[in-house]
Amino acid sequence: MSLHPDWLSPDTDAFVPGIWPSTAARPSGVLTIGGMDVRALVEKYGTPLYLLDEADFRARAEAYRAAFAPWQVYYAGKAFLCSAVARWAAECGLGVDVCSPGELALALRGGVPGASIGCHGNNKSADELRAAIDAGVGRIIVDAEDEIDRLEAIVASRPDGSPDVPVLVRVTPDVEPHIHAAVQTAVIDQKFGFALDGGAAAAALARLEAIPGLQLMGVHCHIGSQIMETDAYELAIERLVGLLAGFRDTAGRELPMCDLGGGVGIAYTAADHPPSPADFARRLQDAVGRSCRQAGIAVPAMSVEPGRAIVGPAGVSVYTVGIVKTVQLDGGTRTYVAVDGGMSDNPRPALYQAEYSALLANRASTSAPVLARVVGKHCETGDILVPHTYLPGDIRPGDLIAVPASGAYQRSMAGNYNETPRPPVVAVRDGVAQVLVRRETIDDLLGLDVGR
Ligand code: LLP
Repeated sequence: MSLHPDWLSPDTDAFVPGIWPSTAARPSGVLTIGGMDVRALVEKYGTPLYLLDEADFRARAEAYRAAFAPWQVYYAGKAFLCSAVARWAAECGLGVDVCSPGELALALRGGVPGASIGCHGNNKSADELRAAIDAGVGRIIVDAEDEIDRLEAIVASRPDGSPDVPVLVRVTPDVEPHIHAAVQTAVIDQKFGFALDGGAAAAALARLEAIPGLQLMGVHCHIGSQIMETDAYELAIERLVGLLAGFRDTAGRELPMCDLGGGVGIAYTAADHPPSPADFARRLQDAVGRSCRQAGIAVPAMSVEPGRAIVGPAGVSVYTVGIVKTVQLDGGTRTYVAVDGGMSDNPRPALYQAEYSALLANRASTSAPVLARVVGKHCETGDILVPHTYLPGDIRPGDLIAVPASGAYQRSMAGNYNETPRPPVVAVRDGVAQVLVRRETIDDLLGLDVGR
């Protein structure tokens, strides 16, 4: 049995451009990002370290905005949010999609106007809904019948003359993109949204339409994440447009908004070939135009919510090598390279069997590459950061390993397993570094321990 996937070979260059932020370079073997030498950054901020290339983030946000215009683009904050990133997104003309009170607070702190915020979540409490309404969010995406009950009670208790609350209905169109089951969000057998088949979505629309104080604006779907093809989106579009046409026939008016969620994939390794924003946008826009023409409805104000595709490629995580050991296996050897982070700062390989790339970042090496696995320092065998890669055979303690495509769902999903403080996020741009999220400390952890 092969010890590595087919796409990986000793010749696989871990520095393929599509995987690294646009400002990343490797003069004489040392990685630089945003004009900064990674060794100097590590000297100052330590490891593990999340670096974020601000220019790369802004360029991608801008590319998505331009590719999808006149559609609106909401940056999905769940991929990674802090107030600076919320501000960058807003400065690039994007709205921000939040799915928790914490994300809402960060978006507001970043200066994102309430009207440019979309509020998500499959189980929003009355307090959360009230906070979103008080912040004047541009739309609440309603996910369940119980949530309609809560919204109805909230708007009924507001003073006369309060502005209507704009709502969209999260629809489950029963489509299945070719992705990991854990991020399939539009099949029937999962927790999100109102099923289209069987009439739950149409019933939710009819109910919301009748509630004074709410302003029913349209429909929403999010079919999944890390998707490379548009076929499942096209099917979802056809079904959503069918729902909109049905609503027009019964309610006598057309709904003015439709959101297609996020999900555009990115490259983590040389095996991934994501679509360009322009291609992706054109296919979705063609499909919407076609479906609306066929259904005889006007094209609504459309929007999308990419997260990973904007912030993912802008991030690089950097670790220090602590232990190197090689094991003999049937069919060859594997070198385990243990670094000072792990599943607490990136749970994605453990959760989704995600593959990553890795690069020796602090020096050039002429040693022959060896098949390697980058692992962390947590107490689990599944504590793997880069399951399959080649690294120079002279990799040794003290070396720096850089892992690209680390901007999305890493810091945002990081935890404190083994009482491990979470790493900082440092933005780099034009030779300047700025801490966006500071490193957690043992004192932060001790501060939570109030039960003595
Ligand atoms: N909109 C909604 C309603 C979502 O639920 C999501 C992601 C997005 C937009 C943004 O999706 P993106 O463009 O980032 O794919 N932790 C998983 C991904 C979970 C995605 C959750 N929802 C991972 O690391 O692969």
